[in-house]
Amino acid sequence: MCVELLEAGAEVVGIDNFDNSHPEALRRVAAITGREVIFTEGDLRDRDLLDTVFEANMISAVIHFAGLKAVGESVREPLHYFANNLGSTMTLLEAMEAHKVHKLVFSSSCTVYGHPDPARMPLTEDTPRGAGNPYGRTKLMIEQMLEDIAAGPSPWKIMMLRYFNPVGAHPSGSLGEDPAGVPENLVPYTMQVAVERRPYLKVFGGDYETPDGTCIRDYIHVVDLVRGHQRALEELHTVDGVEAVNLGTGVGSSVLQVVAAAGRAAGRDIPYEVVDRRPGDAPVVFADTTLASERLGWRAELDLDHMCADHWRWQQQNPDGYGGPPS
Ligand code: UD1
Repeated sequence: MCVELLEAGAEVVGIDNFDNSHPEALRRVAAITGREVIFTEGDLRDRDLLDTVFEANMISAVIHFAGLKAVGESVREPLHYFANNLGSTMTLLEAMEAHKVHKLVFSSSCTVYGHPDPARMPLTEDTPRGAGNPYGRTKLMIEQMLEDIAAGPSPWKIMMLRYFNPVGAHPSGSLGEDPAGVPENLVPYTMQVAVERRPYLKVFGGDYETPDGTCIRDYIHVVDLVRGHQRALEELHTVDGVEAVNLGTGVGSSVLQVVAAAGRAAGRDIPYEVVDRRPGDAPVVFADTTLASERLGWRAELDLDHMCADHWRWQQQNPDGYGGPPS
């Protein structure tokens, strides 16, 4: 996102505590764009730090991406998730209020649809919400918090973007996802198998009621996701209170279709074994993208092969992520 904003001429002010990210990514953003993010390392729960950043910069709008996002970890350490994801959002909102910055784009997730009924696909934004795990509950609670602060006559202009399954990388291959520890998500894990960092992929469940028996998800290229944020930022002035918009492709792909696409990208077969279902997985999830198209004039353009080709380029150039030798 920083690359695209800097390339568009915007000043970008960033805060991150590097909990699941790496300072090397900022150096690479500067190498690509020739411009620097005005960056402060720190925790969003540190109100003094936020005040300092708001005072030092003319901030017109905030994109709030920060948050822990591993479903399994959230089940093991729910309090950690509530303290971090809710605490950081509350402190950020208080600081925004104090500094009279009321424009916000929030990274929400299709996880707020809970365990949706397969008969209700594709998912529209008015699908009843629910939470299947503590991580999902933090996203849902933040959405509710934002709805409360933006209710009635209020200065807030908020877009909650509900991401489906983001994958891919910057087309240069020098910026991508570098999960700490063993990846929980399908594409990062599959790519680590492709680069022989892990021996094989476990496919969680082959007996779902889907054409090939594996779960179906709506994978979306991060570059399309970034374009969605740019459109949301441009439209924020027209928002009255708060709106939620799905960012997905509207196309469902099975786990085995992803494995095949990853194999095509890497030019090798990806070894896998079908194992038991992972508890809590919904069989089928994909987006209705009508609102994104009508409201933002946005639609995803890049298909699964494109996502895997870009993700593979990143993985191949950086087999050990940002901690390895320079890309
Ligand atoms: C999860 C979260 C979602 C979050 C996303 C990205 C829920 C229910 N889902 O999505 O909110 O935005 O992560 O952080 O909260 N799979 C395998 N083997 C693996 C890993 C995954 O077969 O090693 C399968 C899963 O069973 C699933 C599919 O691949 O069917 C996608 O899984 P994953 O990448 O973890 O994403 P979600 O669970 O859809």
